[in-house]
Amino acid sequence: MAFAVSSSKAARVAAPAAAEKRAAQVCRVSSRSASSVRPVVVPVSASRARATSVIVAAAATASPSIADKFKPNAIAKVPITQQKQTCIITGASSGLGLAAAKALAATGEWHVVMACRDFLKAEQAAKKAGMAPGSYSIMHLDLSSLESVRQFVNTFRSSGRRLDALVCNAAIYMPTAKEPKFTADGFELSVGTNHLGHFLLSNLLLDDLKQAPNKRPRCIIVGSITGNTNTLAGNVPPKANLGDLSGLAQGVPASNPMMDGQEFNGAKAYKDSKVACMMTVRQMDKRYKDSGVTFASLYPGCIAETGLFREHYGLFKTLFPPFQKYITKGYVSEDEAGRRLAQVVSDPKMDKSGAYWSWSNSTGSFENQVSEEVADDAKASKLWDLSAKLVGLA
Ligand SMILES: NC(=O)c1ccc[n+]([C@@H]2O[C@H](COP(=O)([O-])OP(=O)(O)OC[C@H]3O[C@@H](n4cnc5c(N)ncnc54)[C@H](OP(=O)(O)O)[C@@H]3O)[C@@H](O)[C@H]2O)c1
Repeated sequence: MAFAVSSSKAARVAAPAAAEKRAAQVCRVSSRSASSVRPVVVPVSASRARATSVIVAAAATASPSIADKFKPNAIAKVPITQQKQTCIITGASSGLGLAAAKALAATGEWHVVMACRDFLKAEQAAKKAGMAPGSYSIMHLDLSSLESVRQFVNTFRSSGRRLDALVCNAAIYMPTAKEPKFTADGFELSVGTNHLGHFLLSNLLLDDLKQAPNKRPRCIIVGSITGNTNTLAGNVPPKANLGDLSGLAQGVPASNPMMDGQEFNGAKAYKDSKVACMMTVRQMDKRYKDSGVTFASLYPGCIAETGLFREHYGLFKTLFPPFQKYITKGYVSEDEAGRRLAQVVSDPKMDKSGAYWSWSNSTGSFENQVSEEVADDAKASKLWDLSAKLVGLA
């Protein structure tokens, strides 16, 4: 498999690995002695909710001078050319994101920054997945708050790590919700989290990607077959449709929570958000053609048992995995899906910008066609302009 480290590869990464190890040793010493790093030490016995609020509070109250001292990673002293490649993965505490983090970290060539809203859950998940200490770090990110996105970018920058790949993976899906929920900024939760949070994050981190010593840094936003109406799965009602974007123009607020301005539907809101993710990748490719960054999206297969379906009916959760395994044959395990995503991050052959990748069980990866709506560049451009305004970039 592409992620086994060959001896020649191991030799190539030996210098960065040694530098990272030295940095980790320094970090352990400083975290025992420096009182300034105390805010990130979350008590293991604390409840998840309390721990999360501790992290948010630490980030929210840090003045710039404290933030400067607050460089928990001695990696900041290692020149970026001697650091391992770094990949940020949002929503790496479970499912696809965790599996991809595990696959990348296991190569020995990547350091993974797990950008998660629940620090303890992420730490426990990484340990359970067997990820080696030092092969990953966890930074707080709640995509349902634009302020949190901005704070994450500041925290990442102050860590001194290079950035070679950004994977916008986190998502929520509320197929049974009767009423919409909203982000801290008042956007409908699915669109606000899956699309607008990632829209801001990827735009803010573009400059960091451009500075990567890696010749071809990558920005990947996870898409879905369910947003592509040129497929069977994409034709299961309610179908994705951004309509005239009149709801988004208003910021998908309580009075108009769907992007197309129609009545709220939780399943459709997810599918619409995935259309927006795939359109954003295509727009990035057009708008940042000369940036040297590769922009891509993908559908990794149906990972029928992940937490994405946590809000679905019990019967659905029981029947969906065997249905995908034996009837549609679209089922893919978390590990396999994680390897696929890791491949899009690191495989030199998957370097085409603007591509939407899929896999066939027999022939492997291929560049897939997106739906007519996703390919509608005029609509995508309008989506971009509205999104930029909503997140404060325009
Ligand atoms: N499962 C499938 O069949 C399938 C198919 C196609 C595409 N996908 C895509 O794959 C990606 C991952 O989904 P998954 O199936 O692996 O589901 P998952 O296990 O539920 O993973 C979703 C991740 O997103 C995180 N998240 C949710 N809201 C967040 C927020 N406000 N801020 C930060 N992180 C947040 C979750 O964090 P918590 O752990 O804290 O909840 C979790 O780590 C999604 O983009 C999804 O659209 C999935």
